[in-house]
Amino acid sequence: MPETRATGLTRRQCLLAAALPLSLPLPAMAQEGGVRVLRAAPLSHPLRGSAHPAITAWGYEGSVPGPLLRYRQGERLRLRFENALPQDSTIHWHGLRVPHAMDGVPHLTQPPVRPGESFLYEFELPDAGTYWYHSHLRSSEQVERGLHGLLVVDEREPPRVDRDIAWALDDWRLSPTGQLSDSFGSPHDISHAGRIGNAISVNGAAPADLALRRGERIRLRLVNVANARIFSLGFDGHAPQVIALDGHPVTPHAPPRGRVVLAPGNRCDLLLDATGRPGERHAVFDDFYPRQAFDLLQLVYGPAALRDAPMAAAVALAPNPLAEPQLQGAVRHTLRFEGGMMSGMHRALLDGQAVPMMQLLRQGKAWAINGVVSAGHGAAHAHDAPLLTLRRGQSCVLTLHNDTRWFHPIHLHGHAFRVLARSDRPTPWREWRDTVLLAPDERADIGFVADNPGDWMLHCHVLEHQDGGMMGVVRVI
Ligand code: C2O
Ligand code: CU
Repeated sequence: MPETRATGLTRRQCLLAAALPLSLPLPAMAQEGGVRVLRAAPLSHPLRGSAHPAITAWGYEGSVPGPLLRYRQGERLRLRFENALPQDSTIHWHGLRVPHAMDGVPHLTQPPVRPGESFLYEFELPDAGTYWYHSHLRSSEQVERGLHGLLVVDEREPPRVDRDIAWALDDWRLSPTGQLSDSFGSPHDISHAGRIGNAISVNGAAPADLALRRGERIRLRLVNVANARIFSLGFDGHAPQVIALDGHPVTPHAPPRGRVVLAPGNRCDLLLDATGRPGERHAVFDDFYPRQAFDLLQLVYGPAALRDAPMAAAVALAPNPLAEPQLQGAVRHTLRFEGGMMSGMHRALLDGQAVPMMQLLRQGKAWAINGVVSAGHGAAHAHDAPLLTLRRGQSCVLTLHNDTRWFHPIHLHGHAFRVLARSDRPTPWREWRDTVLLAPDERADIGFVADNPGDWMLHCHVLEHQDGGMMGVVRVI
């Protein structure tokens, strides 16, 4: 596994001490005639439960993460984004299948929202599940500063659980003075594993222990909102069942090798049955970076039991209305990701010129897709030429090939796709996702129906890799 530059995390130090799990539903927001307002502004953010001083962050509606937005399947979201930041911004609705004009990608789907301006986002919510929203402009800086929030769409018939809890998993890179390090998009982060932080948070605060009662059933929604950190969570003494991935239902199953792996952008819904006994404590731990394993928090059993035996078998959620790709006759393409440190990439095309790697690095670029480095979101580069063009309604199988020494979670906008195979081995669950993590040298075959017209971003969700050129456009006409 590649070395990361997580700055000296230990099992204890990185934990900022105690915080509240987010129990749904969440706070009412400013409403005007059915339009919610989401105002982005700088704020002083206390990392609750930690010894750190408050940091200067950016948040929506005065909080980090932003308010949890909650809707019913089939409802319409109407929300005015107001920009009170010192920079342009937009909001992207990660994983939601929205019309192109609502996708929140500056210069590609809408003009940037300037400071003092606003933008009305309005669209239907066809799919139930766990989603999130975040800035899509200078996202390696703006998302790291706190511009993200969770969005939950309830099923028409939600499964019966005792509690519904969401954890936005994040990390922050704090300087020795306890302030947010301003090394956004540093050349080192761009060309290595991205900006890995040194302080972990859950819902914007230090992770707090979770009090449980024996026998209760919890729906735990996990969302990785970090720029670059990958989480791999284990639950000591418990056997959670995965019921949805990236918002979409999956056959309930135990997490492979006992770990719930979440790359930036990924979500996982778990059913967690509290099978411990009164007085017990069990760790929820992370060991993705093996030399930096740590306990995220403890599951703590109070004296009272809710029921003696856990509730019956796992709940299979009703599927979302996604078109099934027809593999026979699907159009097939390969996207090869290359670059980064220790790569065989010596040059790549930037703005139509073959540029040597050393010069790319000086321009803050390090990655290419099929030999092309994305120039980025700048106005002058409204459109990188599309990586591929698909006809509306066409089934498509893409082989995503990670030809680098680094991990990359590859995200496609506007669609969900089935993960059909990994390095030629069929996947057991053929899960729907919008962001698929590729290990070094791994290939993933993904299948989907190109049923949403427009120019859609496809990019690595390590936000520094996105900045560094690992981004492109899939056009559906
Ligand atoms: Cu969650 Cu293009 O991003
Ligand atoms: Cu990447």
